[in-house]
Amino acid sequence: MTGDKRLAIVTGASRGIGRATALRLAEDFGGLVLVARNEEGLASAADAIRAAGAQALPLAIDLSQPQAAEIIVARTLERFGRIDALVNVAGAVPQTDLFAMSDEEWADGLALKFHGARRLALNAWDALRQAGGSIVFMSGSSALAPKAALAAVGTINAAISALAKAFAERGVTDGVQVNAVLPGPVMTDRRRSMLEKYAVSKGLSFDAAIGAFARETGIARYGEPEDIAELIAFIVSSRARWMTGATLRMDGGEIKAV
Ligand SMILES: NC(=O)c1ccc[n+]([C@@H]2O[C@H](COP(=O)([O-])OP(=O)(O)OC[C@H]3O[C@@H](n4cnc5c(N)ncnc54)[C@H](OP(=O)(O)O)[C@@H]3O)[C@@H](O)[C@H]2O)c1
Repeated sequence: MTGDKRLAIVTGASRGIGRATALRLAEDFGGLVLVARNEEGLASAADAIRAAGAQALPLAIDLSQPQAAEIIVARTLERFGRIDALVNVAGAVPQTDLFAMSDEEWADGLALKFHGARRLALNAWDALRQAGGSIVFMSGSSALAPKAALAAVGTINAAISALAKAFAERGVTDGVQVNAVLPGPVMTDRRRSMLEKYAVSKGLSFDAAIGAFARETGIARYGEPEDIAELIAFIVSSRARWMTGATLRMDGGEIKAV
């Protein structure tokens, strides 16, 4: 039991990095609002959070829908009356080649990961301002090295890094801390689906592709969702209070440039 009254919203909390983040934040926050579409995944995360002594409100909702953010913030304030942290993790940007990607796929990628997070930040802003709260946006190391084969992934992540900077500037006057996290390859369902495509493109088995991609990327190991969760827990803690407008890369050494 944390005994803390602070409340954090975590999107993408049904699995992967979002779930690990919500579970880690249950050590520091008194309440967690868990957002994703899959009810079973959310219920299982909520059970784990309650077992850790924090309160949990699972909200099964499609974040790419324009009205989702307003509903999430209203339900959160109705139940908890405050928002201290907003952690935008949800994302499912299509993994399509630049020359094959349709306008619809671009719109889908932006609707969830970019506009979903942007609208949540806007709707939660007043409550975050009152709490002196913190926002984390999920970008990715691909923002620093976009690839043609995954055109929208790097491009939308770069847009999110820029969006976080813009919110951070307003946050300086409003007392809201805003940062972006840039993970490298983290072993989740999403990464496994990327590795399956990589295996096909290289004519490798899935197991062989895991090793080959790590060697090609120049990392000693894949990240675990808990690695990123620990970084986020630090960012939203009082220990990192002076850090704002930062883009924090945790990638096992993937990006070699300074
Ligand atoms: N894994 C990596 O290597 C890596 C690297 C860099 C950045 N990232 C970023 O980190 C974030 C999490 O990635 P992950 O690897 O943990 O992915 P994941 O395992 O596929 O999880 C994605 C999460 O987003 C939720 N989500 C997807 N579509 C949604 C929608 N329309 N509305 C609400 N929630 C939705 C999913 O829940 P439901 O399906 O239940 O809706 C799930 O909880 C993503 O933004 C990703 O781009 C990942």
